[in-house]
Amino acid sequence: MIAPSILSADFARLAEALDAIRGADWVHVDVMDAHFVPNLTLGLPVVESLLKATDIPMDCHLMIEDPDRWAVGYAEAGAHNVTVHVEAAKDPVRLARDLRAAGAKAGLSIKPGTPIEPYIELLEEYDTLLVMSVEPGFGGQSFIADVLDKARTVRDLVDTGHLNLVVEIDGGINADTVEQAAEAGVDCFVAGSAVYGADDPARAIEGLRAQAASAHERFTA
Ligand code: DX5
Ligand code: ZN
Repeated sequence: MIAPSILSADFARLAEALDAIRGADWVHVDVMDAHFVPNLTLGLPVVESLLKATDIPMDCHLMIEDPDRWAVGYAEAGAHNVTVHVEAAKDPVRLARDLRAAGAKAGLSIKPGTPIEPYIELLEEYDTLLVMSVEPGFGGQSFIADVLDKARTVRDLVDTGHLNLVVEIDGGINADTVEQAAEAGVDCFVAGSAVYGADDPARAIEGLRAQAASAHERFTA
């Protein structure tokens, strides 16, 4: 799956940005509060408007403090997947259950420096693991390949039937990095600058998808 991040789109033309990625599997919306990360983007009112403007399933990545208080609103609004950061959540088990009860998939994100081992059991409550491959806050940063070990660890647990979730990666995904992520077992690729920085965003999505699919085939052959 390819999930273009509108963080790299023109914020004055978000409806056009959604039209430009009609072939995407998910649209990734980065919510930043200038506290959990040093950047400020958009919140629930804008997400509600975006939901009305597209049929693409929405993937809300909440880089905010106190997601226990705010995340469920995004699920109630109709987001397909709502991801919170493990570094910010106070009661991640309850939060996942609340998100699911509100009709969304529950996502858990980990920053590049956060180990996955302490949270393996917690992942049983979640539908998505979002592995950050840059420090959250800004688009256009370089891919941190070290985080792929975390994707491999969780992919093995999925393949052996111990977990059932989508492994998603976010940050620095482009034509040069998507294949190594696919080989590590990633299912869903967030791409901001690689899609919206391209002359033809729809073509960029197709290119990334084809690269990921062939890398995955090589890997599993
Ligand atoms: C960064 C955001 C990402 C960002 C990715 O904090 O979570 O979703 O948009 O942008 P690129 O693909 O340019 O690294
Ligand atoms: Zn993101």
